[in-house]
Amino acid sequence: MLTVIDHPLVQHKLTLLRRKETTTGEFRRLAREISLLLAYEVLRDLPLEPLAIETPMERMQAVQVQGKKLCFISILRAGAGILEGMLDLVPAARVGHVGLYRDHETHEPVEYYFKVPDALEERLCVVVDPMLATGHSAAAAVAKLKQAGARRIKFVCLLAAPEGVAAFEAAHPDVPVYTGALDRQLDENAYILPGLGDAGDRLFGTK
Ligand code: URA
Repeated sequence: MLTVIDHPLVQHKLTLLRRKETTTGEFRRLAREISLLLAYEVLRDLPLEPLAIETPMERMQAVQVQGKKLCFISILRAGAGILEGMLDLVPAARVGHVGLYRDHETHEPVEYYFKVPDALEERLCVVVDPMLATGHSAAAAVAKLKQAGARRIKFVCLLAAPEGVAAFEAAHPDVPVYTGALDRQLDENAYILPGLGDAGDRLFGTK
């Protein structure tokens, strides 16, 4: 259920994103651009339905994306850096937010916010967080979404660690994971190696 999106532009931009010299402004722009490219791949199986339209020339049978508007679920706070690029591609999407922070000692997620659109059971829910590290936050967010009714869920990140992929898949074998790269491992503080550092700090210029 893991897909590494190996498009050359994604890989090139990831290299720029990872570099420690990359400034906050560049980091934010790159994260947005990569996210748009990831969304393009992640959404390639959206179902279509026929739609009759008129061009200036004649009537035609065209197509449109079927069903209720899809929903992006951003895991706060770093998910915001991915959300923008995805909304560039799907401006009409609905947006939900799950507030989770990682306890620095236990590395376990602690929830402090949950606000999502209605009729989750009828929407594709694309959960976004830049880093799939331990997988605990992602798994907790998806569990909460399932409780709220979500049935069709995908998870998208920029970088994943093998440990996080394994933990997430064990908790949610039904949820496909899409990433720009599968990195080597976690360090003792549960940061991804080689990684890119703290995604939230690099996006927002904190620390
Ligand atoms: N969160 C981050 O921002 N970076 C990591 O490497 C792991 C989790």
